[in-house]
Amino acid sequence: MTKETNKLWGGRFNESTDDFVKIFGASIFFDKILAPYDIQGSIAHATMLSEVGLLTIDEKDQIISGLDQILKEIDSGKFNWSLDLEDVHMNIESRLTSICGDAGKKLHTGRSRNDQVATDIRLYLRDNVDGLLVDINKLQIELLDLAEKESSTIMPGFTHLQAAQPVIFGHHLMAYFEMLSRDFERLEECRKRINSSPLGAAALAGTTYPINRKRTAELLEFENICSNSLDAVSDRDFVIEFNSVASIIMMHLSRFSEELIIWSSAQFDFVELPDSFCTGSSIMPQKKNPDVPELVRGKTGRVFGNLTSLLTTMKGQPLAYNKDNQEDKEPLFDTVDTLKSCLRVFTQMLPNIEAKRDNMYNSTKKGYTTATDLADYLVNKGLPFRDAHEVVGKSVSYGIEHQKDLCELSLTELQSFDDRIEDDVFDILSLEGAVNARDHLGATSPNQVMQAIKVARSSLK
Ligand code: ARG
Repeated sequence: MTKETNKLWGGRFNESTDDFVKIFGASIFFDKILAPYDIQGSIAHATMLSEVGLLTIDEKDQIISGLDQILKEIDSGKFNWSLDLEDVHMNIESRLTSICGDAGKKLHTGRSRNDQVATDIRLYLRDNVDGLLVDINKLQIELLDLAEKESSTIMPGFTHLQAAQPVIFGHHLMAYFEMLSRDFERLEECRKRINSSPLGAAALAGTTYPINRKRTAELLEFENICSNSLDAVSDRDFVIEFNSVASIIMMHLSRFSEELIIWSSAQFDFVELPDSFCTGSSIMPQKKNPDVPELVRGKTGRVFGNLTSLLTTMKGQPLAYNKDNQEDKEPLFDTVDTLKSCLRVFTQMLPNIEAKRDNMYNSTKKGYTTATDLADYLVNKGLPFRDAHEVVGKSVSYGIEHQKDLCELSLTELQSFDDRIEDDVFDILSLEGAVNARDHLGATSPNQVMQAIKVARSSLK
C-alpha cells in the first residue's frame, strides 16, 4: 500500500487522512492569528533547550533566525499556509524545517502541541487583555468629559421606566463610569490567572528531558508556572473567565445602548446621536436609526453565546487534552474582536452625543418627580412619613386632574392638603431645589457630581 501520511505525525499510519476529515479537523483557518505568539513561545523554548544542552548554540541560532524569517513571511503575506499541515503550529514547524533542516526538526524536543497551544492562547489573551484595559480607560475618559459637560443638566431619573426623581445627567453617566471601573478590575484580576506558563507540561505528563520551566516562563514574562501538567494542557478556565468578564462588560454597554436608543427616539428626544453613527431608512424618509447602539446591544448576544459555547465545550471533557479544546479558539477570538470594536465605537460616539437639555428639563417637570421632596418637607414639619406620603399622593392626584405639576399649584391649593405647607415649599418643589438637596456622598447634586468626577479622574492616573 502506498503511504502518504502527515510528515509530522504520520509514522504509525498506513492510510492517509480522508480529504474531508482534513478540512474538518484543521484549525489553520482560524488559528493563524496565533502565529506571532507561537513563534514567541518557540523562541523561548529553543533558548531554554540550548541552555540545558539539548540544542547547540548554532542550532538554536538557526532556529531563531528561521522563526524570525517566518514571522516576516507571515507579516508580508508571503507565507504559504497549508491545510495538510492542520494548524498554525505544524505549518510553522514544517516551514522551519525547510529553512534550517535538522535544527528545525529538533525544536519540538521536550514539547507537545498540547502545551504549545495552551501557551499560545495565554500569550494571545494576555496581550489582548492589555489592549482592552487601555480601551476601557479611553472610554472612561470620554465618559468623564461628557459627565463634566452635563454636570448641571437635569433629567428625570427612572425606576420601572417611570419618572421617579430629578437627577443630573452627569450623575447618570457616572453610573456607567463606575460599572466600567469594576469591569477594569475584573479584567486585571483575570489577567493574573492567564499569566501562568503551561510550557513544559508537554503532552500531559511532563517530559523526560531536563527542561527548565522557570526559564521559559521568565523569557515569556509569565508571572507563574502552571503547577500540574495535566491541568496545564487541559483546562481553559482562563478563557472562560475572560469571556465571563467580557460578557459583563457587554451587558453594561448593552444597557447604555438601550438607553441611548430610547433617549434618541422622538418620544423621549433627550439626546441627538451624531449622524455619522446612524443610518436612514430606504422607505421612511424621516428616520434616523441608532444603528451603532443597536448593534452593540445585538452583539452582546454573541458574546454571551460564546461563553455558553466555551462552558459547554469544557464540561464533558476527561483530563487531559482532548481535541474538543480546539473549539476554544473561534469563540475566544470572536469575543476579543467584538469587545474591542464595541469599546472603540462607543469611545468615538460619546463625545459627539448632544444632550437636549431643554427637553430633559421639561420632561422632568412632567412626571411629579419632586413628590418625594414634598413628603420630606412635610416630615421636616413634623408629619410622620406615611402620613406625608398620603398627603402628597392626594396632591399628585389633584395635579393630574388639573394638569398641573406640583410646583405649579398655588400655595392655597397646596395648603388645602396640609396646612403646615408654607411659602418656602416652592424652593424644594423646583427641580434645581430637588437635585441640590441631595448633597451627600454618591448622591446627585451638581456639587457631588463634580466631586465624583474629580475623584474618578484621579483614580485613572
Ligand atoms: N490545533 C490544536 C488545538 O487547537 C493544537 C493541539 C493539537 N494537539 C493534539 N494532540 N492533537 O487544540
